[in-house]
Amino acid sequence: STQAQILVASNRGPISYALDESGTLKAKRGGGGLVSGLSAIGPEAGALWVCSALSDGDREAVRRGVGEEGVRMLDIPADVHEDAYNGVANSVLWFVNHMLYQTPLEPAFDAEFRRQWASFETYNRAFAEALAEEAAPGAAVLVQDYHLTLAPRMLRELRPDLRIGHFSHTPWAPPEYFRMLPDDIAAQLLGGILGADRAAFLTQRWADAFTDCCHAVLGPGIPSGTRIGVHGLGADADFLRKRSHEADVDDRIVALREQIGAGRKAIVRVDRTELSKNIVRGLLAYRQLLEDQPSWRERVVHVALAYPSRQDLAVYRDYMTEVQRLADEINSQYGTPGWTPVVLHLKDDFARSLAAYRLADVALVNPIRDGMNLVAKEVPVVSDEGCALVLSREAGAYEELGEDAIVVNPYDVVGTARALHSALTMPLDERAERTKRLAAAATALPPAQWFLDQLRALDA
Ligand code: G6P
Repeated sequence: STQAQILVASNRGPISYALDESGTLKAKRGGGGLVSGLSAIGPEAGALWVCSALSDGDREAVRRGVGEEGVRMLDIPADVHEDAYNGVANSVLWFVNHMLYQTPLEPAFDAEFRRQWASFETYNRAFAEALAEEAAPGAAVLVQDYHLTLAPRMLRELRPDLRIGHFSHTPWAPPEYFRMLPDDIAAQLLGGILGADRAAFLTQRWADAFTDCCHAVLGPGIPSGTRIGVHGLGADADFLRKRSHEADVDDRIVALREQIGAGRKAIVRVDRTELSKNIVRGLLAYRQLLEDQPSWRERVVHVALAYPSRQDLAVYRDYMTEVQRLADEINSQYGTPGWTPVVLHLKDDFARSLAAYRLADVALVNPIRDGMNLVAKEVPVVSDEGCALVLSREAGAYEELGEDAIVVNPYDVVGTARALHSALTMPLDERAERTKRLAAAATALPPAQWFLDQLRALDA
């Protein structure tokens, strides 16, 4: 096979396969910010995307030689992938980056964790070896996210000729939090990324935290040879505007409008049902709004699209249950025969997300911590009549959108309820003006440009 000049590596790839009862493989688009950002880079760009098989369907696709041009899926043994993905990446690294631990009990880095860590090394090595095999001499390799923190150094050792970049799609924790990790592992993670020529982040805040961690763990002075960069991934305006006016989206608008009821305002949120997205406090704030401002009863609906994510992990399943329970509770407390206060959808549906973006009066984006949050950037681009954005100051998007959003402390339920009230009462002309400015800021760095900038920076 011919070797690639540009390679991308990530755990989740652009598509995933499911096996139906008849044994047919069905392809489905991957979700999340990383895939949204990178999907602008098709095989036309001449890039090879190396990702892992995530499901039985994916493994079967690899075995049958089914796949997309420009994509290579690695069939890493299921138990190794399980330890690396669910055990280390999602239960530890994600928790550290997003500061999600309930620290009196967690984390406890025990022997089981050390066993999983060995799998994490094996998994990263599998990527490094595949990349080393596929890359042309002097090729550019862009390694993505926390799953692949060790791969840059491993790849560097196999192929000193390559130009290697690493990109973090998450926040980075400050040293006092990051150093909960065992010292040797903290050093290995930082050293892994420092194996790249360039380590890049979504905002200056996360880049600074990474640098601070390097100083705290590895001693003063980042080893020379690794440059630090910031690329604030933006929304893909052309794609979104086009896609959001297709017939299936129009159909979803009709269906959602029916559930909301005529003449009512809609407070919309769209997330993976993800611990860091703060969906529960969003519901609590909405209930507080109905309590504090009874005039909104019957006149507003909270449309929460909370799509399943990482359901192999018990904490995620429990979180989803809590979201569902609280939504039901609010509906039975406040609902009337003609009014359902919370409309909750738990099944992934991209067309419905776009429909919700278009009709939203208010978008609630209140994560407790988030690398960027593309929903905050997509809503203003797609909105039909303008939308007020309630935005957490802990989302990376805050750095770019803070001026025209209504900014909240995500832990402050009463404060968020007040922000929802301000958003609902914002004059429509002001709302339209702000939406225009938000859309301009949100699309400043479209995905294709974001990708090219990283390649260019690697060349420099
Ligand atoms: C975040 C991460 C991505 C990840 C996505 C979806 O955006 O930064 O790396 O792909 O979440 O999560 P999942 O575990 O389903 O891939």
